[in-house]
Amino acid sequence: MSSLNFNTNWQYAEAPENQDHIELKEQYELFIGGEFVKPTGKKPVYFDTINPANNKKLASIAEASTADVDKAVKSARNAYDKYWSKMPAKDRGKYIYRIARMLQERAREFAVIESLDGGKAIRESKSVDIPLAAAHFFYYAGWADKLDYAYPNRKPKPLGVAGQIIPWNFPLLMAAWKIAPALATGNTIVIKPAETTSLTALKLAELIQEADLPPGVVNIITGAGATGAAIVNHPDVDKIAFTGSTSVGKIIQRAVAGTNKKVTLELGGKAANIIFEDATIDQAVEGIINGIYFNQGHVCCAGSRLFVQESVQEKVIRKLKDRMETLIVGDPLDKNTDIGAINSREQLDTIQNYIKIGKKEGADFYESSCPLPKKGNWCRPTLFTNTSQSHRIVQEEIFGPVLTVQSFRTLDEVIDKANNTYYGLSAGVWTDKGSKIFKLTSKLKAGVIWANTYNKFDPTSPFGGYKESGFGREGGLHGLSAYLKF
Ligand code: NAI
Ligand code: MG
Repeated sequence: MSSLNFNTNWQYAEAPENQDHIELKEQYELFIGGEFVKPTGKKPVYFDTINPANNKKLASIAEASTADVDKAVKSARNAYDKYWSKMPAKDRGKYIYRIARMLQERAREFAVIESLDGGKAIRESKSVDIPLAAAHFFYYAGWADKLDYAYPNRKPKPLGVAGQIIPWNFPLLMAAWKIAPALATGNTIVIKPAETTSLTALKLAELIQEADLPPGVVNIITGAGATGAAIVNHPDVDKIAFTGSTSVGKIIQRAVAGTNKKVTLELGGKAANIIFEDATIDQAVEGIINGIYFNQGHVCCAGSRLFVQESVQEKVIRKLKDRMETLIVGDPLDKNTDIGAINSREQLDTIQNYIKIGKKEGADFYESSCPLPKKGNWCRPTLFTNTSQSHRIVQEEIFGPVLTVQSFRTLDEVIDKANNTYYGLSAGVWTDKGSKIFKLTSKLKAGVIWANTYNKFDPTSPFGGYKESGFGREGGLHGLSAYLKF
């Protein structure tokens, strides 16, 4: 039977999210010591942040120099000594609750800015990024005065000043993942968002100022790799928490070797999403779609390697292609959009280059036929079949809406194939049999394994990887330990 062609007869009316309530400044400064301050020096440097859906400038962002990083670290140290380490834990908790509540109240504004600056579909910013960010603050606020119960008889103590560097794929959520547990455990913070997505972090700085946190407890500074390196190399930083590329993760690890800095690294991934013949196929297809096309594939735990049991391979691929045809790529602020804009021109080049490599390697390429807007950075949902383990597109992190498909016959075979990667962040398994789930979860070398679902997050559950995906856990009780000494 030929596949149904869903898309051609269906047209959704445009449903753009209202932007009237959004207030963006023309220029953003550094948030140091509770104030917004210009970068130091005679000629402060600013860079543009753009909307990747049309490549228009949204605002100018201050670039923190080494001197500014030093200022931010001094301010964090001062806040640690003067206020934060002396404050009763339950009062620290109150501040974190206040941030959580304010974030919830302003969720719409944060969601729209996240989509404007980063390109992600508004449906996701609204239903995933912002609510989960607030949930992390709520969750860790609750731990602030209960650390002695979390670690009985171990007398946990804060580390001091935490330097935190985050990526552009979940800007506010990654800030929440890092700020909330650090504050709950009594540390003060210097945090840097990624250079293409600084705006929600700067909005968070405004919110933290309004929440009246003691000055310097959270310092939010902007800039690119050099600013990040200055945080990593600052001698008075006690802990580095980094999420980003494996290559920068390695640089950081070398930089802190031989120092007393504690480190957590959350790096790349190349997750296996495994479909057995006894799975509920329609549900699994939704899981595959969500696993790789969610957030334009800008997800470290994206289910980018699909393994399908041979007997159902044809059926799964047919259904998958049909479903891909229905996905809408376009205006991130439109509520119907499934796949928004690729975060930057550079990332789009990277993805397109991998698509070229895949074709050259001899894999069969398929992409949906949806129209793309004229301006901006876009990529249709794509997949490669007829791939092999040695292909670069199967081994390397692409960080875009590109799925590779392989088949397997037996459980042992798929375990071998799935583990044959440098990474080990996450995996997914789809089957009706609990016994298969147990066998896979014990044999797969991945930090997070979803069963009959994918890309589900919760502040109570730890997240992190093996091998080149980094080390240390964020989220849950584990996420507290990363900011404590005993
Ligand atoms: P990146 O690792 O360069 O950027 C992540 C953060 O690190 C940014 O805030 C950046 O300013 C900062 N940074 C860059 N160089 C630094 C240095 N030497 N010291 C300290 N901080 C530094 O990632 P990029 O170039 O934006 O993306 C490249 C690839 O990395 C992507 O294609 C993707 O494969 C992977 N990636 C993985 C992420 C994850 O969630 N695990 C997130 C972002 C990217
Ligand atoms: Mg931007």
